[in-house]
Amino acid sequence: MVEKIKLGLVGFGCVGQALYNIITNESLPIEVVKICVKDRDKNRSLSSDNFTFQYRELVEDPEIKVIVELIDDADAAFLMVKQALIAGKMVVTANKKMVAEHLEELMMLRENGGKLWYEAAVCGSIPIVKTMDQFYNHEPIHEISGILNGSCNFILSQIENKGVDYQQALTEAQELGFAESDPLLDVGGYDTMNKLVILLCHAYGITASPSNLCTIGIQNLKSQDLKFAKQRGFKIKLVARAVREGDKVQAYVMPCFVESQHALSQVNNEFNAVLVKGKYTDDHLFTGKGAGGAPTAASVIADIYATEGQKDYDYYKWNANKDMVYSNDVSLPIYLRYKTAKDLEEFGFQHIWSEGPYEQGGFVLGKTSLENLWSLNSYIEEQGITVISAGLLQDTVKATSQMSKETFDLVG
Ligand SMILES: NC(=O)c1ccc[n+]([C@@H]2O[C@H](COP(=O)([O-])OP(=O)(O)OC[C@H]3O[C@@H](n4cnc5c(N)ncnc54)[C@H](OP(=O)(O)O)[C@@H]3O)[C@@H](O)[C@H]2O)c1
Repeated sequence: MVEKIKLGLVGFGCVGQALYNIITNESLPIEVVKICVKDRDKNRSLSSDNFTFQYRELVEDPEIKVIVELIDDADAAFLMVKQALIAGKMVVTANKKMVAEHLEELMMLRENGGKLWYEAAVCGSIPIVKTMDQFYNHEPIHEISGILNGSCNFILSQIENKGVDYQQALTEAQELGFAESDPLLDVGGYDTMNKLVILLCHAYGITASPSNLCTIGIQNLKSQDLKFAKQRGFKIKLVARAVREGDKVQAYVMPCFVESQHALSQVNNEFNAVLVKGKYTDDHLFTGKGAGGAPTAASVIADIYATEGQKDYDYYKWNANKDMVYSNDVSLPIYLRYKTAKDLEEFGFQHIWSEGPYEQGGFVLGKTSLENLWSLNSYIEEQGITVISAGLLQDTVKATSQMSKETFDLVG
């Protein structure tokens, strides 16, 4: 008889319950010894003797070799994972915010004997972390462009294809279990940035703080922006990008215009995709469901099985590429829809292809620095300014000059 993997589960929400259901329905050789949750008054689908409110019980139980952390509180999750790694446990998590904010520390904590897996933290069901860590370990990667957040992609697809409004699409994403408990994590681009930070480590050997990289979400997009894009044959997608030049990698998260022939254009709803451009491998496109209980839990299960081998990630590039750094020192072509003259001034455009009035403010299609955009992240969010990158367009000048001809009559 196969010996069961004995685990302690923390969190019994969307992903935790899906995990439990798959283990039970598929009769997997995994035994959930105890489940730690927070709310003592919640009705549960299992009898109360399955649960505890004391995380300590899981870490101190010698029978439990694997801790699976699936809670929606990144700070509490870090303390739990830290304790488990120090205790020499095998730890599986789906918490991208926690991993992105503490990656270097987590890597060091593994020296206590514990091991850590987090495949489900990036793109739900797509096995991109392990692939990046092991398949691409020697491959110089020129570029990564990805749709890494299922909720945002679902919202943008619903607005574009069904003509629903933003709030309606967000509510539906929440009801379907795609969205984070705090929706700003999704729509503000922060969840996407957390995932990009994890990929930067495995793809380039860079550990960066999410707050040091330019993050612009989709919450300020208006229907006229989508209409503007659609009439030119573009879609708007929330894209995480990393582009390498020498030892520098520019990285950002921003809504981007995407042409119909681009690989990311046909990725809709809760699907995610990662386009990797390698020096020798050329282009690879990975796609699959990036959110939802079952697809995410399936990834968690792959990690639970991996604990049997007791070998987590190699971090080959992090160990080898000590000279590689991220850099905001680059210019980007952007579309800006601003409200006041002060807004426009703040953006310090280095070059403007076209501009014009819109309502009280106006539009600009021009070039500004990534450093400047990063320093304006809070300002953009608070002032309700729209910024869309034109950096994925094949020929920005051609595309933007075409935009300029019709900009104002179409969008008004
Ligand atoms: N949902 C997705 O599609 C998806 C996709 C990829 C990754 N993830 C990640 O997976 C994790 C879980 O997401 P979810 O959607 O399953 O969240 P969720 O549905 O909101 O469930 C959260 C669970 O965490 C428990 N919890 C919160 N704080 C706790 C604490 N201090 N101690 C013990 N339990 C605590 C809650 O307990 P109570 O039941 O007592 O309230 C609840 O069971 C998050 O890190 C998320 O980013 C989610």
